[in-house]
Amino acid sequence: MAGRVTFTMIKPDAVRNGHIGNILKMIGDAGFKIRAMKYTRMTADQAGQFYEVHKERPFYGELVDFMSSGPIVAAILEKDNAVEAFRTLIGATNPAQAAEGTIRKAYATSIGENAVHGSDSDENALIEGDFHFSRLERF
Ligand code: CMP
Repeated sequence: MAGRVTFTMIKPDAVRNGHIGNILKMIGDAGFKIRAMKYTRMTADQAGQFYEVHKERPFYGELVDFMSSGPIVAAILEKDNAVEAFRTLIGATNPAQAAEGTIRKAYATSIGENAVHGSDSDENALIEGDFHFSRLERF
């Protein structure tokens, strides 16, 4: 059975470009409830750990540098079938392929700087939420 939570980050590019408010509005309008949220910045070590599954990819270094380049908004979101519903809302990883009405279509500038992260499985949603939030930070 699909889980009810997913994990997201509004990435440094979208924060720098002033899109936090508009992205949170799209998330709320799509029916997601916020269970945890923080404005934070990952160190390069933390970003490396977060994206460890991509360690062998050619873009890993670039990804770690980018994700630690400035503040992000991290959040745990709840909705029925949350992982899939949120991936539909954010659109394809490459904004050139993202559908109309998606967050990446509106705010992403490239495949690397693509405005938002969304967990790709229920299992990763739990791992990624646990990376950023303690029990006391969830409501
Ligand atoms: P995200 O969904 O946060 O998880 C992995 C990230 O790697 C992805 O978003 C992209 O930002 C990044 N990524 C994927 N493919 C590439 C690529 N070809 N070049 C640079 N970054 C990439």
